[in-house]
Amino acid sequence: MKAFLVLFGLIATVQLSLAVFGEFKHGDKNSKYFKKEPPLRATKPVAAVDAVYEGWIKQRMDNFDPQNTESFYMRYLFNFENFQPDGPIFIFVGGEWTVSPGMIQFGHMYDMAQALNGLLIYTEHRYYGETRPTANLTLDELRYLNIDQALADLAHFIVTIKQTFPGAENSGVILVGCSYSGTMVTWFMQKYPHLIKGAWALSGPLLAQVDFVEYQEVVSRAIHQVGGENCSNTIRNAFEQMETLAEQGNATELQRLFKLCKPLDLNNDLDVWSLFGDVASTWSGLVQYYYRHDRDIENACEGLELHKTNTTTDLEAYAQWIMNRWRINTCYDHTYESFLESWSGTSWDDWIAQSEWRQWYYQTCAEYGWYQSSGSEEILFGSNFPVNISVQICSDLYNGFFTPTSIQGNTDRTNIIYGAKNPSVRNVYSTHGEHDPWAPMGLDANENEDSPVVYLPGESHCSDLGSIGVRDTPEMVASKTRIFELVQKWLGIPPEQQKTLPPVA
Ligand SMILES: *[C@@H]1O[C@H](CO)[C@@H](O)[C@H](O)[C@H]1NC(C)=O
Ligand SMILES: *[C@@H]1O[C@H](CO)[C@@H](O)[C@H](O)[C@H]1NC(C)=O
Ligand SMILES: *[C@@H]1O[C@H](CO)[C@@H](O)[C@H](O)[C@H]1NC(C)=O
Ligand SMILES: *[C@@H]1O[C@H](CO)[C@@H](O)[C@H](O)[C@H]1NC(C)=O
Ligand SMILES: *[C@@H]1O[C@H](CO)[C@@H](O)[C@H](O)[C@H]1NC(C)=O
Repeated sequence: MKAFLVLFGLIATVQLSLAVFGEFKHGDKNSKYFKKEPPLRATKPVAAVDAVYEGWIKQRMDNFDPQNTESFYMRYLFNFENFQPDGPIFIFVGGEWTVSPGMIQFGHMYDMAQALNGLLIYTEHRYYGETRPTANLTLDELRYLNIDQALADLAHFIVTIKQTFPGAENSGVILVGCSYSGTMVTWFMQKYPHLIKGAWALSGPLLAQVDFVEYQEVVSRAIHQVGGENCSNTIRNAFEQMETLAEQGNATELQRLFKLCKPLDLNNDLDVWSLFGDVASTWSGLVQYYYRHDRDIENACEGLELHKTNTTTDLEAYAQWIMNRWRINTCYDHTYESFLESWSGTSWDDWIAQSEWRQWYYQTCAEYGWYQSSGSEEILFGSNFPVNISVQICSDLYNGFFTPTSIQGNTDRTNIIYGAKNPSVRNVYSTHGEHDPWAPMGLDANENEDSPVVYLPGESHCSDLGSIGVRDTPEMVASKTRIFELVQKWLGIPPEQQKTLPPVA
């Protein structure tokens, strides 16, 4: 298995074909990491898949340059089975992933649309999925990939749909987005308030920041709180012991423990950072997508504890546990060089484009940073994966174009244009999960009366997409009820005509 990444995506990264893992070598086709949509849990599809249609709309390549006449087609999905003329339009805004029908077949947005006879739409973000504006993904061709363009695409889309979809001319538009698309809906309201009535932003980060030290702080806190003190102690001890071995120059012991394919060169910072980052980042996924009923953190902690019965040190237990988790039978390739090689493609057919990492990583270098480093003392994972490695990846993946200074300048630009945690919006309902490592970058105080911010205890990233369910916490039910009330208020539905939604089993 190749070194994977020191950056955990905003949305889930899934490992394909785990079952056929066996031989690990760099570039192994089985060790692909794909981005996928945010999780829509708990309920089964309400609408049939053939209720969902695909459409394509012509967009300008550059929305801000009238002299550029190039264009491309943007994909969207729609479901009008419940739509009545003048009913509202609910748009789930696609982020850095490929759209699929599920998002407009069920879930809380679906339920709201169904109750209000709304039209359901799911838009695909330029450069993701099948929406491919350019011939390839070389640095030069990536110039039209940014949120400013994506929001302008959405604006043009909304105006066009209202003009052309029968019965939609007078429809009010509600946007829903989660994760990066939660960011998008908030900023859409800021830039194009005349086009929508309101927005629901789930787990959207708003503050661009290069060194995102808070991420692993939340991860560490969640492990401690949910997995227990023994678990967090084991992890902390393991990383301390790992750092001690590195300080003592004991590369052979680290090589043995982590079944490294190649000797560990302790003088090569990038290799060391890559190793420590990989070994830590397993917990990112567990916490970011934690769901009480699946008990993933608890199970991982119990698994780790089991290994302690056979081993003498916490590091040995941790190493055994992680080799097991990654299903490493032969060896694990930790080197930065192999990582770079496997991430180096620029064609749409390369896995790094299909996994959408090339596009998303570019956006982090050009707009947000958000590198989940070991820069805080309040984490369980030591201090051996500083932000430097992520910044180096920006330089190495895109022809040396990005530098630490330019990346800082790019995040500053984003914060200046969109206002970071002061977006000055109306009618945006923002939700965050208590254990969501992205929450520290999100809105943390009510913007105004009609733009409240709600923290959901015990939940993580994008965990409130599903229907109101019988297994939801009271806080979750209250939040989903509130957004439905707000949506109806924003649409101008008089109080006596407003509806409520019952829980779904
Ligand atoms: C990428 O596409 C551009 C525009 O079509 C083309 O000029 C360039 O040669 C391509 N580069 C690669 C590496 O395919
Ligand atoms: C925590 O570890 C201590 C010492 O090894 C042990 O006695 C205790 O049972 C453990 N607690 C849990 C909840 O596993
Ligand atoms: C490396 O660490 C192992 C385990 O602690 C120890 O047995 C070995 O002697 C160490 N080797 C060196 C060269 O320090
Ligand atoms: C502990 O060692 C025994 C005997 O070698 C083995 O059967 C068992 O699977 C090991 N447990 C773990 C958690 O590795
Ligand atoms: C990280 O990079 C900065 C410059 O961008 C440098 O000052 C610092 O020493 C580097 N840190 C490490 C641990 O190499």
